[in-house]
Amino acid sequence: MSDTTDIKASTLPTARKSRFSRLCCCILLVAAFIVVLGLALGLGLGLGLKHRTSTTESSPATGSSQASNQIQSWRRSTLDYALDLSGWDFNAPPTTRVYNFTASEIAAYPDGVNRTVLAINGQFPGPLIRINQGDRLVVHLTNHLPNATTLHWHGMFQNDTNWMDGTTGITQCPIPSGQTFTYNFTVPTQSGTYWYHAHQSTQYIDGLVGPLIVHSPEEVQLQKQYYDFDQVILVQDWYHGLSAGLLDGFLASGNENAEPVPDNGLIQGTNYFNCSSYDEGSGYTCYDNSTRATFAVENNHRYRLRFINTGAFTTFQISIDNHTLNVIEADSTIVEPLPVHRFEIATAQRVSVILNANQSSTTNYWMRMEMNTDCYAADNPVLDTSVLSLISYTNSTAEPTSSVDWKDAYDLICQDMNNTLLVPVAEQQAPPADIFYQLSFSFAIGDYALDRAVINGSTWVPNKSDPTLNQAIAGIHASNISETAGVSTGFSPNQYVISLPTIQVVDLLVQNFDDGSHPFHFHGHVFWVMATSTEQYFPWSSDLYSQLNSTSSNDYTKNPMRRDTITVEGYSWVLLRFRNDNPGVWAFHCHNIWHMEAGLMAQFMSLPDVIKSWEIPADVANLCIV
Ligand code: C2O
Repeated sequence: MSDTTDIKASTLPTARKSRFSRLCCCILLVAAFIVVLGLALGLGLGLGLKHRTSTTESSPATGSSQASNQIQSWRRSTLDYALDLSGWDFNAPPTTRVYNFTASEIAAYPDGVNRTVLAINGQFPGPLIRINQGDRLVVHLTNHLPNATTLHWHGMFQNDTNWMDGTTGITQCPIPSGQTFTYNFTVPTQSGTYWYHAHQSTQYIDGLVGPLIVHSPEEVQLQKQYYDFDQVILVQDWYHGLSAGLLDGFLASGNENAEPVPDNGLIQGTNYFNCSSYDEGSGYTCYDNSTRATFAVENNHRYRLRFINTGAFTTFQISIDNHTLNVIEADSTIVEPLPVHRFEIATAQRVSVILNANQSSTTNYWMRMEMNTDCYAADNPVLDTSVLSLISYTNSTAEPTSSVDWKDAYDLICQDMNNTLLVPVAEQQAPPADIFYQLSFSFAIGDYALDRAVINGSTWVPNKSDPTLNQAIAGIHASNISETAGVSTGFSPNQYVISLPTIQVVDLLVQNFDDGSHPFHFHGHVFWVMATSTEQYFPWSSDLYSQLNSTSSNDYTKNPMRRDTITVEGYSWVLLRFRNDNPGVWAFHCHNIWHMEAGLMAQFMSLPDVIKSWEIPADVANLCIV
């Protein structure tokens, strides 16, 4: 293990390192550092493979010129997301880990096209959060954005801290511009790959995203078995315009569910973009030195790559030329190794794979992240769907010489990886359901020719000054909101809330009457994926439902995949099952951010008798007083 550019060896200048991932073998590394400084910058900071040969910014293709010898301070180093394993105590006693975040607008050009990006601590994507299971996470978030914001901790149960879920209009009022709010919660039982993102309108796709990794003592065993190095990789679709403007266009009168199609895809917050796609009149400033992410590997070492799809709505198909990958985690559930050439990752999902760097080390290889255009209703002429980054055996940014894409066909439909092939290592037989609910959704042209998403007749509009949780607590006390099971009538028509009063097992049939695919996420829970289909209707005339509800072990009940985000394909259904044991008001929504903002959201009010006993902490409640 030699160089300064390895995924594991975090030897870039300390200013670029993440706070908790220090290796202190500095002295030995200084010499190596000097020798390979230029190389290290090139690899670690993800410098480009095209149009440039140094770290110097060239003049922009259009607009004002800019020259600097500096790596852009907002640009995230790939090494910032390398999880140093030897320096981390996986068995540390529970502690409190504190992060200070300031959200602000910056001008940045992740793929060369300059735009306003919402950054955390001046960087995009956001800082890596790393904690152990059992720890308390405290994030002081100062909002220097012009607009209100929140942060949601995607996948966290927030058991007994529902008001820390960060969901505008459901668990909190957004944090006004200029204010600081502290998120503070414990993670007693969970571990794996998670992420955080703003949960205020479409804001997160302008940049407010980052990885949240929860380690556990058991992970040490996993490392012994499968990997030597551990690297987080963010993939996302990307727009050159601010989301607020795109959202206005999407929701405008007469527009029939044509979601804005991304302009590019980013890996680790960077990618190449062909500036000549935009002419002088485009209004864009495009720097012709855009970059591709590079991940350096060492021959015959094994890498856990933790992919997180932090995008707006694209499903990616990911592969590495010449290397079979083994999936070992999806949405924080550890699974039996599944060998794949390509795998799908929908918006908000996480997938860990093992990369064994066992191919010829005389060349580099492409990592391909193909954006599935079947997710889109239209074309975007500037979009190159083949997003590439480099797996470098050679400590160089040299383009591969004998890198060959797998022959396996790419998906033609916007879909998940086959959930039945994912087998949780911690086996759990799914118990039969006690109660059944169905959510049917579609898009419909409603008032003022506006296209809205409708779930069981309701389209969600967030109540930003009186969130559902606040309404629930007050309403249950005042007996305006009933604790009995079923769809609650105590909320306004834009809040579709199902009350689940007892700890029991719930079946949720999600019926898609739209032609598009929808990645649904359930806050505060993981669900069993009991069955999925490409047919429109659940086959009630067959014995499927009784098999799914058998008390004995069968193909469906034995050990179904557990996750928190699942794609419901066009004109089809999925049957999810969960244990209703987490009190609070929980969002269940399409993570296609355009669809969520069009109203594709239902809510579950779990254990209202517990909710009734809550008093929302003053700092959270005060956000609603402006
Ligand atoms: Cu990633 Cu409502 O969340």
